[in-house]
Amino acid sequence: MERAVSGAALPDFVERAADLTRRTTLGLPGRAAWYAEIRSVEQLAMLAGDSRQRRFVLGAGSNLVLTGDFDGLVLRMAIRGRELIGEDDDAWYVRAGAGEDWHRLVLWTLAQGWPGLENLALIPGTVGAAPIQNIGAYGLEVAERFHSLDAVDMSTGSTLQLDRSACRFGYRDSVFKQQGWHLNGQRVITRVTFRLPKRWQPLTGYAELAAELDRMPRSGSDTGPGSGPASVLTPRQIADAVIAVRSRKLPDPAALPNAGSFFHNPVVSAAVAEGLARAFPGLPRYPQADGGVKLAAGWLIEQSGWKGRDLGRVGMYEKQALVLVNRGGACGADVVALARAVQEDVCKRFGVELAPEPILL
Ligand code: EPU
Repeated sequence: MERAVSGAALPDFVERAADLTRRTTLGLPGRAAWYAEIRSVEQLAMLAGDSRQRRFVLGAGSNLVLTGDFDGLVLRMAIRGRELIGEDDDAWYVRAGAGEDWHRLVLWTLAQGWPGLENLALIPGTVGAAPIQNIGAYGLEVAERFHSLDAVDMSTGSTLQLDRSACRFGYRDSVFKQQGWHLNGQRVITRVTFRLPKRWQPLTGYAELAAELDRMPRSGSDTGPGSGPASVLTPRQIADAVIAVRSRKLPDPAALPNAGSFFHNPVVSAAVAEGLARAFPGLPRYPQADGGVKLAAGWLIEQSGWKGRDLGRVGMYEKQALVLVNRGGACGADVVALARAVQEDVCKRFGVELAPEPILL
């Protein structure tokens, strides 16, 4: 810690007392004792090896609740670059720097004619953050398009590669969360390689996406809303539909600060889900491969009376109850208080525990 406190041995690119408020999408106040923009693997290696120093790795700050000041070193990943590194009969392999903007990567791959990421359009955040919580939307998780990632082990400064099985992906989960590597800045993702399928199939099973596509005019011979079979769809049209649905329901963090879904969708046993459905007809239920049943946290929150309701300077968004928004000037304690109130009410009414999705720092 002495090194960080005195700053004697820290390289020039490390700043002191950096304000993080505008570096997170919830816009909560907080400072980092030390802060560095990381543009290269070499910079990371220069900061490796000091086990006394607390570290946190920041991307776009779109999945983070700052509960106050951070007495350690924040590494903001700004490693750029995106390229096709290879292809075979089945796929294109695209590698991107951890600091690239996720949505721009999606649009760029589509413009190059490499489909596969379209269902994940408009998700806020960086490329490096995508595998950490296995981002997902509209029937697709990034794990399904993931090939491998490069990371730096901050205890030694050495680089390593993790393939899909080493990442141990789950619902909004990976080895980076399971092992605490992300929260303690122990292994830092520098680049991610995606595997984009040449035999592309549109994924339009998500009801809201299908409805949006039905309303959209189609290109090609089959024009007009709802007229064509799914096979005439292009990846770009799916991206456009996803963008339309997301823009309607999810607040733009630049206009209304938020961190996306604030809670995970809870998974309960089939017996619990059945009991709840008997008591609450209309309960959305999504059976999982392992026999569990995923429930919709947004529905549970709405039914508990929290949709569009505020507690002080924060509230649950009026168009999507799963999104916690900062109405202006909120701090970490406001967010924690609202999250607790919502958790308590949902638990009282349904007996279901909600777990926060963003990282609390
Ligand atoms: N619902 C309500 N009231 C609400 C919100 C939702 O009743 O206020 C109901 C909906 O009617 C629907 C069900 O809950 O029956 C599910 O809602 P929705 O399709 O909007 O999806 P979600 O489960 O709330 C998840 C992801 C989103 C992702 C969408 C689309 C999680 C925690 N959230 O939300 O991801 O965009 O599905 O795939 O899994 C994120 O992780 O930050 C995120 C935005």
